[in-house]
Amino acid sequence: MAVRICFVCLGNICRSPTAEAAMRHLVDSEGLAHVFHLDSAGTGAWHEGEPPDRRATATAKRRGVTLEGRARRFDREDFSRFDYVIAMDQSNYRHLEQLAPTDSDRRKVVLFRDFDPDGPRGAEVPDPYYGGDDGFEHVLDICLSAARGLLRHVRKKHTL
Ligand code: 4NP
Repeated sequence: MAVRICFVCLGNICRSPTAEAAMRHLVDSEGLAHVFHLDSAGTGAWHEGEPPDRRATATAKRRGVTLEGRARRFDREDFSRFDYVIAMDQSNYRHLEQLAPTDSDRRKVVLFRDFDPDGPRGAEVPDPYYGGDDGFEHVLDICLSAARGLLRHVRKKHTL
């Protein structure tokens, strides 16, 4: 059975589509695409239906990473559709914890950078929306590093 992972930020146009694409990039390069179901969503609905932010898309494209999908809001029912619900920052984390219908759903919520060997426990993926292009570069670096850690964790846990 597939390992189902949803990456969650605020708007679902910058960080979570970048995290999803970084993870897909790694999973593809290790020939594990068939094992994973990857998605992303936002805790807010302001950008529902929009493609990823063009700055995030352009930054990723330069590094061979392809952003996909349209923004959508993460809802309570999503908990039954995923094994891992991965928050980009502490605010997303708290929101998801409160939304979780059951204790076992709440245990699916984890902070993305807790898998990042370069980040101390509790570190966040900073919101790049109101900043410059270097913020998007920084987000991509973090996402690639955390995705490597997440893949290592999942491979070990699911003996892949
Ligand atoms: P994201 O970035 O949560 O990484 O997608 C944001 C996108 C939009 C807004 C905030 C953050 N906004 O306030 O519209």
